[in-house]
Amino acid sequence: MDNLILVTGGAGFIGSHTCVALSAAGYRPLILDNLNNSDVRVLERLAKITGRPPSFIKGDVRDRTLLDRIFREHNISGVMHFAGLKAVGDSVTDPILYYGNNVTGALVLAEAMQAAAVKTLIFSSSATVYGTPERSPIPESAPCRPANPYGRSKRMVEQMLADLQHSQPDWRISLLRYFNPVGAHQSGLIGEHPLGNPNNLMPLVSQVAVGVRDQLAVHGNDYPTHDGTGIRDYVHVMDLAEGHVAALRHAASGPGLVTLNLSTGQGASVLDVVKAFERASGQRIAYEVGPRRPGDVAAYWGDPSLAQVTLGWRARRGMDQMCADTWRWQQQNPQGYESDGAL
Ligand code: NAD
Ligand code: UFG
Repeated sequence: MDNLILVTGGAGFIGSHTCVALSAAGYRPLILDNLNNSDVRVLERLAKITGRPPSFIKGDVRDRTLLDRIFREHNISGVMHFAGLKAVGDSVTDPILYYGNNVTGALVLAEAMQAAAVKTLIFSSSATVYGTPERSPIPESAPCRPANPYGRSKRMVEQMLADLQHSQPDWRISLLRYFNPVGAHQSGLIGEHPLGNPNNLMPLVSQVAVGVRDQLAVHGNDYPTHDGTGIRDYVHVMDLAEGHVAALRHAASGPGLVTLNLSTGQGASVLDVVKAFERASGQRIAYEVGPRRPGDVAAYWGDPSLAQVTLGWRARRGMDQMCADTWRWQQQNPQGYESDGAL
């Protein structure tokens, strides 16, 4: 069988949803995750959705001995590399932790793949590599000027993998730049459960809706946008997941390197998201306008046309579905995977 895909970080938010899409497309995911930012109970939920528990190995992607063993013992045809740390603020206070996890992790993985002659790799990059963009929609050709250690760690890995593919043209590498991933699987069984205090808009909005939090702090309403609040390109996590499957299929067509935005091409403001969530949940979202958040960009969204042409992929789910699916997950699992209501 050549359909076994190693999914590093597969217990996390985007990785777990991608495991669902992989299973639906006839691939078998093998998850490697150190559970540093995820809960092992996601595996039961995945089994419930797909009808079969995914294979799981608890371990660290920087553990070369473990990787060598995995590649030796399993007939892996490709790798999706989600494992990494993603909190921009933490990356500023502890850059070494971030470079160690994100850059060393990708380096050790690439070394082990090279040794095992597994040469298909899909890498989780981020729109954060663009830094403050000159214009929107942002094409992949826009300059990359990441503004923090997290973004620089993603850009370094992109460059390392591009150099690798240049030196060994038989590699098949996809660098996928996600915009703002939100939403949840429509079953409500898996979703995003940020550990600690979330910073991202959608988890905070849904926590207000479910009553875990009193109100949302809107970070500024004096931006040059239609309602003064910040605009982002929110993309449904199941669309992202399907984008990964499309990238895997594309890789099967031949060697090469592709760098692609996974985005919708449409921006939504903070208040657009609040209103959509109110419609989806029937709850009022209390908010208070506060000062701008340092480092925030007023507005940006991605140009998804290259992904559409290259992969035949486009985001199909709109903001109303992003909110409805987030709300179902949040309602059924107010404590994330600690809630047993959905099972
Ligand atoms: P997540 O934290 O939910 O998932 C990452 C998973 O990787 C977690 O399960 C964690 O336990 C695991 N992990 C971390 N370091 C590891 C290591 N050294 N070895 C093994 N496992 C490890 O995050 P996510 O939102 O699913 O993001 C997945 C990837 O996508 C990350 O690389 C992230 O940087 C990237 N990304 C995320 C966003 C976003 O807003 N969520 C945007 C752009 C890019
Ligand atoms: N916002 C609020 N109140 C909040 C949280 C967010 O008003 O409590 C606003 C922000 O100011 C911004 C928008 O909601 O206008 C989205 O903020 P997020 O924090 O959800 O997302 P960002 O676009 O700021 O950051 C995300 C990821 C980063 C990544 C970046 C670029 O969280 O990891 O996209 O890809 F670097």
